[in-house]
Amino acid sequence: MEHIKRHVFVCINQRQPDHPMGCCQSKGSIEILQAFGEAVNSSDLAATTAISGATCLGPCTLGPSVVVYPEGVWYQGLKASDVSEIVESHLNGEEPVERLRLRLPTVE
Ligand code: FES
Repeated sequence: MEHIKRHVFVCINQRQPDHPMGCCQSKGSIEILQAFGEAVNSSDLAATTAISGATCLGPCTLGPSVVVYPEGVWYQGLKASDVSEIVESHLNGEEPVERLRLRLPTVE
């Protein structure tokens, strides 16, 4: 068995529907978690890549939120249909998908 080299955390936190911060689960993060699992587990990445659901990762209003370690690359506002691009470009090709990366508001 190979050693795990990369870990993908998908926020699947759930809050009440009227909560002002919202939550990633209400924006489709369960489907995102499933899509990562299916894509990784059916490929050569399965032996070296872990996929985990996580509680709140922090940037709730920008979710669904995903973070990939050890790089510490964050993704925001994902859809399940974005997962194959991340798997191919980032997890397989070592190139994060720039258009999907977390962009924190700048403070002036
Ligand atoms: S609820 Fe997903 S980042 Fe907070």
